Amino acid sequence: MTRSVTARLAALVSIVAITLAAAIPILSNAHDATPAMTVDEQIERGAQIYYSVCVACHQADGNGVAGIYLPLNNGAIPNLEDPTLFIYTVLYGRGGMPRFNGTYSDEDIAAIITFVRQEWDNNASPVTAEQVKAVRDNYSATPIVSPTPDAQIPEGKNHPEERQDPSEASPESTPGA
Ligand code: HEC
Repeated sequence: MTRSVTARLAALVSIVAITLAAAIPILSNAHDATPAMTVDEQIERGAQIYYSVCVACHQADGNGVAGIYLPLNNGAIPNLEDPTLFIYTVLYGRGGMPRFNGTYSDEDIAAIITFVRQEWDNNASPVTAEQVKAVRDNYSATPIVSPTPDAQIPEGKNHPEERQDPSEASPESTPGA
Protein backbone atom coordinates (compact mmCIF):
# COMPACT_ATOMS: atom_id res chain seq x y z
CA MET A 1 0.00 0.00 0.00
CA THR A 2 2.56 2.52 1.13
CA ARG A 3 4.69 1.34 -1.69
CA SER A 4 2.06 1.96 -4.35
CA VAL A 5 1.27 5.42 -2.94
CA THR A 6 4.95 6.24 -3.15
CA ALA A 7 5.07 4.93 -6.68
CA ARG A 8 2.05 6.99 -7.69
CA LEU A 9 3.54 10.07 -6.09
CA ALA A 10 6.77 9.48 -7.92
CA ALA A 11 4.87 9.14 -11.18
CA LEU A 12 2.93 12.32 -10.45
CA VAL A 13 6.10 14.24 -9.63
CA SER A 14 7.72 13.12 -12.84
CA ILE A 15 4.64 14.10 -14.88
CA VAL A 16 4.70 17.57 -13.29
CA ALA A 17 8.42 17.83 -13.95
CA ILE A 18 8.01 16.81 -17.58
CA THR A 19 5.11 19.24 -18.06
CA LEU A 20 7.16 22.07 -16.56
CA ALA A 21 10.17 21.22 -18.64
CA ALA A 22 8.01 21.29 -21.75
CA ALA A 23 6.31 24.54 -20.73
CA ILE A 24 9.43 26.55 -19.97
CA PRO A 25 10.57 26.97 -23.58
CA ILE A 26 7.00 27.83 -24.59
CA LEU A 27 6.70 30.42 -21.82
CA SER A 28 10.01 32.02 -22.62
CA ASN A 29 9.10 32.10 -26.30
CA ALA A 30 5.89 33.91 -25.45
CA HIS A 31 7.92 36.41 -23.45
CA ASP A 32 10.23 36.97 -26.39
CA ALA A 33 7.35 37.42 -28.84
CA THR A 34 9.02 40.63 -29.98
CA PRO A 35 12.70 39.80 -29.79
CA ALA A 36 14.96 42.68 -28.82
CA MET A 37 16.38 44.51 -31.82
CA THR A 38 20.02 43.94 -32.59
CA VAL A 39 22.22 47.02 -32.33
CA ASP A 40 22.31 47.24 -36.15
CA GLU A 41 18.50 47.18 -36.27
CA GLN A 42 18.37 49.81 -33.53
CA ILE A 43 20.70 52.08 -35.48
CA GLU A 44 18.63 51.66 -38.64
CA ARG A 45 15.36 52.40 -36.82
CA GLY A 46 16.95 55.20 -34.79
CA ALA A 47 18.30 56.84 -37.95
CA GLN A 48 14.82 56.75 -39.53
CA ILE A 49 13.34 58.62 -36.57
CA TYR A 50 16.30 60.98 -36.15
CA TYR A 51 16.22 62.04 -39.79
CA SER A 52 12.48 62.63 -39.73
CA VAL A 53 12.09 64.29 -36.32
CA CYS A 54 15.20 65.32 -34.39
CA VAL A 55 16.92 66.58 -37.55
CA ALA A 56 14.62 69.62 -37.64
CA CYS A 57 16.43 71.08 -34.68
CA HIS A 58 19.64 69.14 -34.12
CA GLN A 59 20.52 69.05 -37.86
CA ALA A 60 21.75 66.23 -40.11
CA ASP A 61 25.33 66.52 -38.85
CA GLY A 62 24.18 66.47 -35.23
CA ASN A 63 25.86 69.80 -34.60
CA GLY A 64 22.64 71.69 -33.89
CA VAL A 65 22.38 75.43 -34.35
CA ALA A 66 24.68 77.55 -32.24
CA GLY A 67 22.88 79.29 -29.44
CA ILE A 68 19.53 77.60 -30.13
CA TYR A 69 19.68 73.84 -30.59
CA LEU A 70 22.35 72.07 -28.59
CA PRO A 71 24.72 69.82 -30.53
CA LEU A 72 24.29 66.06 -30.10
CA ASN A 73 27.56 65.35 -31.92
CA ASN A 74 30.26 65.38 -29.24
CA GLY A 75 27.53 66.48 -26.87
CA ALA A 76 27.90 66.14 -23.14
CA ILE A 77 24.69 64.24 -22.42
CA PRO A 78 24.82 61.96 -25.49
CA ASN A 79 28.25 60.63 -24.52
CA LEU A 80 27.71 60.07 -20.81
CA GLU A 81 28.36 56.47 -19.79
CA ASP A 82 25.06 56.44 -17.89
CA PRO A 83 22.26 57.08 -20.43
CA THR A 84 19.65 58.07 -17.82
CA LEU A 85 19.82 61.80 -18.51
CA PHE A 86 19.64 61.27 -22.27
CA ILE A 87 16.61 58.99 -21.88
CA TYR A 88 14.99 61.48 -19.50
CA THR A 89 15.53 64.35 -21.96
CA VAL A 90 13.94 62.48 -24.87
CA LEU A 91 11.02 61.23 -22.75
CA TYR A 92 10.16 64.50 -21.05
CA GLY A 93 11.74 67.26 -23.14
CA ARG A 94 13.63 70.24 -21.79
CA GLY A 95 13.39 73.98 -22.42
CA GLY A 96 12.50 74.34 -26.09
CA MET A 97 12.67 70.64 -26.77
CA PRO A 98 9.39 68.73 -27.06
CA ARG A 99 8.70 65.59 -25.04
CA PHE A 100 8.45 62.26 -26.83
CA ASN A 101 7.10 60.04 -24.06
CA GLY A 102 3.68 59.75 -25.69
CA THR A 103 5.03 59.39 -29.21
CA TYR A 104 7.47 56.50 -29.11
CA SER A 105 7.69 53.06 -27.51
CA ASP A 106 10.57 52.08 -25.24
CA GLU A 107 12.08 50.18 -28.18
CA ASP A 108 11.95 53.22 -30.46
CA ILE A 109 13.40 55.57 -27.87
CA ALA A 110 16.19 53.08 -27.17
CA ALA A 111 16.81 52.94 -30.93
CA ILE A 112 16.98 56.74 -31.35
CA ILE A 113 19.35 57.09 -28.42
CA THR A 114 21.54 54.19 -29.54
CA PHE A 115 21.77 55.78 -32.99
CA VAL A 116 22.80 59.18 -31.58
CA ARG A 117 25.28 57.61 -29.14
CA GLN A 118 27.08 55.83 -31.99
CA GLU A 119 26.74 58.33 -34.85
CA TRP A 120 29.19 61.08 -35.97
CA ASP A 121 32.05 61.44 -33.47
CA ASN A 122 30.01 59.95 -30.67
CA ASN A 123 31.13 56.73 -29.09
CA ALA A 124 28.90 55.48 -26.31
CA SER A 125 27.27 52.15 -25.57
CA PRO A 126 23.88 51.09 -26.98
CA VAL A 127 20.77 51.55 -24.87
CA THR A 128 18.09 48.91 -24.29
CA ALA A 129 14.31 49.19 -24.11
CA GLU A 130 14.56 47.96 -20.50
CA GLN A 131 16.72 50.97 -19.61
CA VAL A 132 14.12 53.29 -21.16
CA LYS A 133 11.34 51.54 -19.28
CA ALA A 134 13.26 51.92 -16.01
CA VAL A 135 13.49 55.70 -16.52
CA ARG A 136 9.77 55.87 -17.38
CA ASP A 137 8.93 53.88 -14.24
CA ASN A 138 11.22 55.77 -11.90
CA TYR A 139 10.83 59.37 -13.00
CA SER A 140 7.82 61.35 -14.07
CA ALA A 141 8.08 64.70 -15.81
CA THR A 142 8.90 67.57 -13.49
CA PRO A 143 6.40 70.39 -14.01
CA ILE A 144 8.12 73.18 -15.91
CA VAL A 145 6.48 75.87 -13.80
CA SER A 146 6.09 75.14 -10.12
CA PRO A 147 3.08 77.16 -8.94
CA THR A 148 4.22 77.24 -5.31
CA PRO A 149 7.84 77.81 -4.43
CA ASP A 150 9.26 74.71 -2.77
CA ALA A 151 9.98 76.52 0.47
CA GLN A 152 6.29 77.31 0.97
CA ILE A 153 5.10 73.72 0.68
CA PRO A 154 4.70 72.06 4.09
CA GLU A 155 6.79 68.91 4.53
CA GLY A 156 5.32 65.86 2.88
CA LYS A 157 2.29 67.72 1.57
CA ASN A 158 1.60 67.37 -2.12
CA HIS A 159 5.07 68.33 -3.21
CA PRO A 160 5.03 69.24 -6.92
CA GLU A 161 7.64 66.58 -7.68
CA GLU A 162 5.26 63.96 -6.29
CA ARG A 163 2.21 65.15 -8.14
CA GLN A 164 1.26 63.23 -11.21
CA ASP A 165 1.71 65.12 -14.42
CA PRO A 166 -1.79 65.47 -15.94
CA SER A 167 -0.47 64.41 -19.33
CA GLU A 168 0.61 61.11 -17.73
CA ALA A 169 -2.81 60.44 -16.26
CA SER A 170 -4.24 58.49 -19.16
CA PRO A 171 -2.79 55.09 -20.01
CA GLU A 172 0.34 55.45 -22.08
CA SER A 173 -0.80 53.03 -24.73
CA THR A 174 -4.05 51.30 -25.47
CA PRO A 175 -3.80 47.66 -26.45
CA GLY A 176 -3.00 47.35 -30.09
CA ALA A 177 -2.03 51.02 -30.39
C1 HEC B 1 11.75 71.49 -31.81
C2 HEC B 1 13.18 71.33 -31.74
C3 HEC B 1 13.75 70.05 -31.19
C4 HEC B 1 13.48 68.75 -31.58
C5 HEC B 1 12.51 68.26 -32.63
C6 HEC B 1 14.36 67.91 -30.78
N1 HEC B 1 15.10 68.66 -29.93
FE1 HEC B 1 16.50 67.98 -28.63
N2 HEC B 1 16.78 69.87 -27.93
C7 HEC B 1 16.15 71.01 -28.40
C8 HEC B 1 16.54 72.15 -27.60
C9 HEC B 1 16.06 73.57 -27.79
C10 HEC B 1 17.43 71.66 -26.62
C11 HEC B 1 18.09 72.45 -25.52
C12 HEC B 1 17.14 72.47 -24.34
C13 HEC B 1 17.60 73.40 -23.24
O1 HEC B 1 18.00 74.51 -23.54
O2 HEC B 1 17.55 72.98 -22.08
C14 HEC B 1 17.56 70.22 -26.86
C15 HEC B 1 18.36 69.39 -26.12
C16 HEC B 1 18.57 68.05 -26.38
C17 HEC B 1 19.47 67.20 -25.64
C18 HEC B 1 20.38 67.62 -24.51
C19 HEC B 1 21.75 67.95 -25.07
C20 HEC B 1 22.74 68.34 -23.99
O3 HEC B 1 23.94 68.13 -24.21
O4 HEC B 1 22.35 68.88 -22.96
C21 HEC B 1 19.36 65.97 -26.19
C22 HEC B 1 20.14 64.72 -25.77
C23 HEC B 1 18.40 66.04 -27.28
N3 HEC B 1 17.94 67.32 -27.35
C24 HEC B 1 18.04 64.98 -28.09
C25 HEC B 1 17.01 65.02 -29.04
C26 HEC B 1 16.54 63.88 -29.80
C27 HEC B 1 17.14 62.49 -29.74
C28 HEC B 1 15.51 64.32 -30.56
C29 HEC B 1 14.62 63.51 -31.50
C30 HEC B 1 13.84 62.46 -30.87
C31 HEC B 1 15.34 65.74 -30.29
N4 HEC B 1 16.27 66.13 -29.36
C32 HEC B 1 14.40 66.54 -30.91
C33 HEC B 1 15.28 71.07 -29.47
C34 HEC B 1 14.76 69.97 -30.13
